[in-house]
Amino acid sequence: MLTEQVIIDRQKCTGCGVCTAICPDRAITLVDGRAEYTRPGCLLCGHCRAVCPADAVVLPGEPLQLGLVSMTEKMEAVAPGKTNGPELVALMRSRRSCRKYRQQAVPLEALVDLVKIGTTAPSGTNSQGWNFIILPVREDLLVLGEMVAGYYRRLNRLAANPLVRWLAKCTSGDSLGLYYRNYFASVAEALREWDEEGKDRLFHGATAAILVTGRKDASCPAEDALLATQNILLAAHAMGLGSCLIGFAVEAMRRMPAMKEKMAIPPSEEIYSVIALGVPAVTYYRLAGRRVVTPRILRPASGK
Ligand SMILES: Cc1cc2nc3c(=O)[nH]c(=O)nc-3n(C[C@H](O)[C@H](O)[C@H](O)COP(=O)(O)O)c2cc1C
Repeated sequence: MLTEQVIIDRQKCTGCGVCTAICPDRAITLVDGRAEYTRPGCLLCGHCRAVCPADAVVLPGEPLQLGLVSMTEKMEAVAPGKTNGPELVALMRSRRSCRKYRQQAVPLEALVDLVKIGTTAPSGTNSQGWNFIILPVREDLLVLGEMVAGYYRRLNRLAANPLVRWLAKCTSGDSLGLYYRNYFASVAEALREWDEEGKDRLFHGATAAILVTGRKDASCPAEDALLATQNILLAAHAMGLGSCLIGFAVEAMRRMPAMKEKMAIPPSEEIYSVIALGVPAVTYYRLAGRRVVTPRILRPASGK
């Protein structure tokens, strides 16, 4: 847990002033040739400690190690341009949504590691207002799955009725009509397979899940949670795990407070992602393709 104070060791400080220049909160000033923490209540982002060549800055209570157990932690910061770019891009392109898993469970320690890795993401005003719920056991995913199925059964019943779709369109826009046109048929089929054949087209047979929530009073809870989520997806791939975001479950949980309650998500938090995880049962030999984008390159200063 972060404490509220940054401590600067005057004996070690050489007065170079790098920390004063880098601090986003202007919380550090040079006093008599030494850095001093003059405005408590800063973001506690730790940039001052990271840039100090004399290692004079301490943020008490902040753990330096994540405490990962499924891999060795490297504690040296990687300087810009000093990492393996091609490897990184290949990792990003090789992460695919996994829709076929082995029955093998994911060790709880690996899931806890993924959460810790998630927290290395940036967050608005360093609020770190995310929270994570781990479901390490397949049976518990099925409990969540049954609640999600219940939500879509009700939604499909409503969406199947043209009068309800028309009334909804008149009062609150065409989202029900949109759902009917785009998802109704495939959801009906998936529900039938779930009910009659025990086929899991929601979590695709994943054996574990991480739910990522954000505190509603954080400055950018959605962005924070989704950035942490992307870290988890990439790290999962690096750890030999498959993952898949389950937007259908997020949508259902957002609309059903009882589901959030069952998943221990308090009303003060919103759910942003459900990440299905497991040991992949498929091998991908080729990278992901993406549509070519043409960025809009602007030069407003030159009138273009
Ligand atoms: C917000 C979001 C929600 C998603 N929800 C689901 C889902 O409910 N079920 C599923 O199988 N895939 C889901 N996906 C995965 C996408 O279908 C997938 O990312 C996309 O097809 C690109 O494929 P790739 O992830 O393998 O590169 C979701 C992805 C995102 C970003």
